[in-house]
Order: sequence, then C-alpha cells, then structure tokens
Amino acid sequence: ASIALKYSLLLVYYRFFCFLADSTVQVLPPVNFTLTVTALAEVLLQWKPNPDQDQKNYSVSYGVEIMTPVKELYDTKNTHSIRIAVLHNGFSARVRTLLLYNNSQIESNWVTVKLQAPSGAVETSVTNLSCVIYTTVNNTASLHCTWLAGKEAPEDTKYFLFYRYNSYTEECQEYSKDKWKRNIGCRFSNTYIRANEIGQSVVIHINGSSKHAAIKPFEQLFNQNAIEKVNPPRNVTVSLKENNLQINWEEPISFVRKICFEYQLSIYNLKISYEQIVKTESNSFNLRIDDTCRYSIKVQANRQSWCNEGFWSDWTKPLYIGKNQNVFVYLWRALIPLSLVYLICHFLIRKTCSAEVAVI
Ligand SMILES: *[C@@H]1O[C@H](CO)[C@@H](O)[C@H](O)[C@H]1NC(C)=O
Ligand SMILES: *[C@@H]1O[C@H](CO)[C@@H](O)[C@H](O)[C@H]1NC(C)=O
Ligand SMILES: *[C@@H]1O[C@H](CO)[C@@H](O)[C@H](O)[C@H]1NC(C)=O
Ligand SMILES: *[C@@H]1O[C@H](CO)[C@@H](O)[C@H](O)[C@H]1NC(C)=O
Ligand SMILES: *[C@@H]1O[C@H](CO)[C@@H](O)[C@H](O)[C@H]1NC(C)=O
Ligand SMILES: *[C@@H]1O[C@H](CO)[C@@H](O)[C@H](O)[C@H]1NC(C)=O
Ligand SMILES: *[C@@H]1O[C@H](CO)[C@@H](O)[C@H](O)[C@H]1NC(C)=O
Repeated sequence: ASIALKYSLLLVYYRFFCFLADSTVQVLPPVNFTLTVTALAEVLLQWKPNPDQDQKNYSVSYGVEIMTPVKELYDTKNTHSIRIAVLHNGFSARVRTLLLYNNSQIESNWVTVKLQAPSGAVETSVTNLSCVIYTTVNNTASLHCTWLAGKEAPEDTKYFLFYRYNSYTEECQEYSKDKWKRNIGCRFSNTYIRANEIGQSVVIHINGSSKHAAIKPFEQLFNQNAIEKVNPPRNVTVSLKENNLQINWEEPISFVRKICFEYQLSIYNLKISYEQIVKTESNSFNLRIDDTCRYSIKVQANRQSWCNEGFWSDWTKPLYIGKNQNVFVYLWRALIPLSLVYLICHFLIRKTCSAEVAVI
C-alpha cells in the first residue's frame, strides 16, 4: 500500500512539474542585430525575430536601449529603427524580445552591438564649433560656422566641413583660414535649410587629414531655430509730442508667426549718457521723457523662448530725437568751423610765405 501511495505521489509531482514546464514560456532574443551608418550622424538599427521563438498567441515586441552616446530606452513592434546621434565617440545599443502573455510581460536576454569610434590622434579634432543661420526674405538660409583647430593638430592639417539637413549633405566650398592656412571657418551662402517651426537638426561633421597624424573627426547637432540669427525689426519710427516719446516698429522678415517675437529697445540719453533697456512683446512703446535732452533709439528682435528662441538680431540703425542741449555737441559744432578757419588761414599764410620767398 505504501509503495502504491509513493508511486501515486510521484505521479502527482510529475504531473505538477509538467504543468509548470508548460506554463513556462520561453523568450528568445532577436537575431542578426546590426548597425549601419546611413548618413552623417544617422544610424539604422535592424534585427530579425528569433526563428525558434513560438509567436502563437503572444504579442511580440522589442525593447531597445541606446547606451552610447546618449542613453535612451524605447519599445517598438518594428524590427528596425533610425537614430540621429553624434558618432565621433562610437555608438552602442542592445535589443531584447518582449512577450506579452496573459497580461504579463516576459523579457529575453539582451543582444548588444557596437560601432567603434573613428580612429584619430587625441586632441586633433576641432573644438569650439559654433554655427549661425541667417534667413532671407525668399526663404533661403545661409550657414556660417567657425571652430578652432585641435591643440595637437599638426600645422599641415586640412579640415573639411560637411553639413546635413534631412537628406541633403554638402561639403563646404568657402573656407576661412588661420595663420597656418588651416581651415577654421566656413560659409554656405545658400543651403537646403528651410524655415521650420518645429526646428530640425542641422548635422555638422568636420574631419581632416595631415601627413603627420590621423585627424579625429568631430560631429555636432544643432537645432536650426536655436542657431538662427533673427533679422532686425523693420520700419522703426520715433515721434515726440510734448514729452511723450512714441516708438513703433514692424516685426522682422521671418516665416514664424508674428506673436512669436519679443523686442529689446535701447533708449539712450545723450545728455547724461544714460541707457535704458526695455523688453516688450508688443510693436510699440511710449515713454515720458525730458524733452530738453536728446535721445538715440534702436530696437532688436528675437523669438520668445516658447517659440524657439534664437540669437538676438542686430540693432536697427539708431534714430535721434529730442532737443540737443549737450554742451559738448555745441563745442564740437563750434570746433568744426573754427578748425576750418584755422586750416584756411594756415594755408593762406603758408601760401603768402612761399610767395614772399619766391619774390626774394
Ligand atoms: C541571419 O544571418 C545569417 C547570415 O547572414 C543568415 O544566414 C540567416 O538567415 C539570418 N537569420 C535570419 C532570421 O534572417
Ligand atoms: C491560441 O488561442 C486560441 C484561442 O484563444 C486557442 O484556440 C488556441 O488553441 C491557442 N493556441 C495555442 C498554441 O496555444
Ligand atoms: C493568467 O493569469 C491569471 C492571474 O495572473 C491566472 O489566474 C490565470 O490562470 C492565467 N491564465 C493562464 C492561461 O496562464
Ligand atoms: C573654447 O571653449 C572652451 C570650453 O568650452 C573655453 O574655455 C575657451 O575659452 C574657448 N576658447 C575660445 C578661444 O573661445
Ligand atoms: C534670395 O535672396 C537673396 C538675397 O536676399 C539672393 O541673393 C538669392 O539669389 C535669392 N535666392 C533665390 C532662390 O531667389
Ligand atoms: C570626411 O567625411 C566625408 C563625409 O563622410 C567623407 O566622404 C570623406 O572621405 C572624409 N574625409 C576624410 C579625410 O576622412
Ligand atoms: C515699411 O514701410 C514701407 C514704406 O513706408 C512699406 O512699403 C512697407 O510695407 C513697410 N513694411 C512693413 C513690414 O510694414
């Protein structure tokens, strides 16, 4: 009887074990995970579902983690994805299978792949890269960049700059140079960059060559709106009625909405050499002033921070208003005729002197 009991117990254990094995779902990692550089600072991640993975009745998706250069985690149902990232320090990512089974998620192991950083001697890549975009009335944009040669870059280093915007990649044709004739600046007077309220990435890639060292490439991503130098405001007018100063202007040439802009006014009192800076979002400003003083007024524009703030525009040409009672200006005005008189006298006296000499 006890043997029969043991036997049936064993059977129960066996049944239970089989049940466990059945309900343990196997999750296998994806296969053939590859990274491909498809454009400057653009990587295509691709993988295949594991052929041995049972996909019936499960919802399969993938977890992706970008590890370098910048950590990023996301899930996707696709078996590919595209990332924009600087690649001069290499790129690495991992992916795993996710099974959604009876409302719980089961994960496979990770598969990791890496792109090596491009080779090059230390401190040969460019530093202090900065770029500015200028837009014109016909929606064309120019791009100007400057940089410094790497500390260890040999004197014969030749740098090459490329920019990429969407699918357009172009090499610089117009470089400026340092005293060793190394390229340290570039100007594209016409680019494929177009006004875009969301602000796309402008990729800058600078590599180089030298007989004495391998030059390490450098990449940087810029948001097009963050590096756009806004155009100055238009049609500035100033008027003075008694002591009420009225300043009006129009928004700059731009393709973003009028309400995007903010302005800075400089109201400079020439008599007491005092500058007042005022910020406003409207297109006019008035101020009580001492109308016995003379003022110089100028305006500059930028987009507001919620609207992709760029670089402040240049100031408009100063406009002058108010009576001029500045004693120095009077003196200066008096000096011009005085010095003219002096010059004429001097000239005449010299002439008579030389005439006298000639007579003698
Ligand atoms: C993975 O790559 C190998 C070699 O390129 C290929 O033979 C195999 O079919 C690929 N596997 C899948 C699931 O595509
Ligand atoms: C999948 O689910 C369906 C119904 O939900 C069921 O009839 C079928 O047997 C299941 N298949 C497997 C392999 O579990
Ligand atoms: C699904 O999960 C619930 C609770 O998590 C459990 O009660 C149920 O038996 C599970 N069903 C299957 C088919 O595994
Ligand atoms: C270059 O950048 C470094 C650090 O960002 C800064 O300290 C240095 O002053 C910059 N050099 C020039 C010439 O702008
Ligand atoms: C756009 O305007 C600039 C000057 O503002 C001019 O040089 C350029 O040729 C124009 N481009 C087109 C495509 O009209
Ligand atoms: C620089 O980069 C461009 C674009 O990727 C490439 O075509 C060129 O061969 C590179 N030049 C050097 C010297 O590495
Ligand atoms: C600026 O003034 C000129 C001439 O008065 C006018 O034709 C032009 O439309 C004005 N511009 C704007 C943006 O108001």
